Amino acid sequence: MNRTATILALVLVPMAVLAQDTTTVTSKRGMVVSTSSHASDVGAAILAKGGNAVDAAVATAFALAVTFPAGGNIGGGGFMVIQPARGTATTIDYRERAPFAATPTMYLGADGEIDRSLTASGYLAPGVPGTVRGLAMAHQKYGRLPWRDVVRPAAELAEGFELPEALALSLNRVVAGPMAPFPASVLAYGKPGGGEWQAGEVLHLPDLAKTLRSIAEEGPDVFYTGWIAEAIAQDMAKHGGLITREDLEQYRAVERAPIHGTYRGYDIIGMGPPSSGGTILVEMLNILEAFDLRSRPRYDATNVHLVLEAMRRGFLDRARWLGDSDFGEIPVARITSKTHAVEHAATIDLARASSSVALGEDIVTETYANEPEETTHFSVVDADGMAVSNTYTIEGGYGSFVVVPGTGFLLNNEMGDFNKKPGETNTRGDIGTPPNNIASGKRMLSSMTPTIVRKDGRTVLITGSPGGRTIINTVLSVVLGVTEFGLSGREAVDAPRINHNWLPDRGFIEAEALTSEVLARLEVMGHVIRVGERWQQGDASSIVIDPVTGIAYGAADRRGMDPKASVP
Ligand code: DON
Repeated sequence: MNRTATILALVLVPMAVLAQDTTTVTSKRGMVVSTSSHASDVGAAILAKGGNAVDAAVATAFALAVTFPAGGNIGGGGFMVIQPARGTATTIDYRERAPFAATPTMYLGADGEIDRSLTASGYLAPGVPGTVRGLAMAHQKYGRLPWRDVVRPAAELAEGFELPEALALSLNRVVAGPMAPFPASVLAYGKPGGGEWQAGEVLHLPDLAKTLRSIAEEGPDVFYTGWIAEAIAQDMAKHGGLITREDLEQYRAVERAPIHGTYRGYDIIGMGPPSSGGTILVEMLNILEAFDLRSRPRYDATNVHLVLEAMRRGFLDRARWLGDSDFGEIPVARITSKTHAVEHAATIDLARASSSVALGEDIVTETYANEPEETTHFSVVDADGMAVSNTYTIEGGYGSFVVVPGTGFLLNNEMGDFNKKPGETNTRGDIGTPPNNIASGKRMLSSMTPTIVRKDGRTVLITGSPGGRTIINTVLSVVLGVTEFGLSGREAVDAPRINHNWLPDRGFIEAEALTSEVLARLEVMGHVIRVGERWQQGDASSIVIDPVTGIAYGAADRRGMDPKASVP
């Protein structure tokens, strides 16, 4: 190659690679970052049409219910944190709740042990869905475009969209596996005539299109009091499920004040109960503020040890105190206070791992020698600076695997997030403390952590993630990356992650973070560490905003299924 050709190759090849990289984009006109390219594009088109960040978020959420059926949903629930361009932040709680007929011991078998099959799939697993009411509340209070304009694009997608490879593979796996016992689900998601889906083939979801059109034209009530409610209740009654017309009619989304914390001059705005996310994120940040993490390399043994110890204490308090605040007092102010963090920090030995059982000996009832995964998070900012951080879920991938006949959507299996055996908190990670025991009409505790970080009154980070109990730690990692270690959005999302959930007393670390020497040091300290490849469920679709220029840097998480940052 001559010199000019070499220079051209050096310049053009990286440019071509960058041009294709839709996971990393820059914009001053707003953007939507999600795990589905189709859904991000729908949200960005709503921004282009003059919609604000809430309009785009609502449209993206409905679109994800079509293009990311593992976690996007109208049959589940979630949380939205909204930061208007001016004024104070707010949150919408649209978490599912237990049907009125639910009881504390409904998941125990005749032997008194937890029957996990009952929450893994089928008709006893779903909580009363909250997504449609939640999105409607956000839209009605904070949106700008007509309702039908933000719902209709999802209905159009449901008429048929091209399958990304990861979704084709995932559908083939579930249709032949856990979905197989549910004929309406196989009818909706299986390949017509049988066989395996291939990337690029078109998935038609006619029933879901009809449902979404109905929601767009008739409004959200059709889901709770109209034909959709009737279809859900009938299917439940037929198969021994608990959700009734009354459950659906009575479901309400709730606007709640956000959790507020600070970390080295940054404001952390998060989700309060019934999510544990915001509360425990702020608590872990408060504990870590007592240590000078940035004086050492991010993943040196001392820093990893400190992060694991902060997580251990945060998740202990989660098990001890967190649940639905409408059913009992949750000491959120105490847990998120700096004094509580100082007390925790004082118990951390810089050279030795603590014992989770010893720290929580007052609540651990059983010692023995994982939660299922799928949810989705997306982040939105508009040209005026309004920001939305939204995480919602049907709990496990494809929820209960139950599609209500004639509706095309999957019901959640969120009831599994309740404590299933009151009184038993064990080293396997089951929790049995009162705040999250099952009760009629109660919301189950969540780990979802939609988060907005601000500095001097300006939004600098919008983030969140799926991943069950790992969620709070994924968000901690991204927040620390940006605020403590000065990383770009791309670097903060790519950075290897660390997880510890108090019990089981075992850390998980993405392999890239560790040298063998650091791992050996951690083990000498007494940590039990599992080292793994990138963990797929951590999918932190994030936006970092430069407070001076207002430029937004989107970082879709490359761990995700079909991630994209889309601009209007
Ligand atoms: O609300 C929660 O915390 C869980 N149901 C979320 C589940 C989840 O993130 C699984 N995703 N990967």
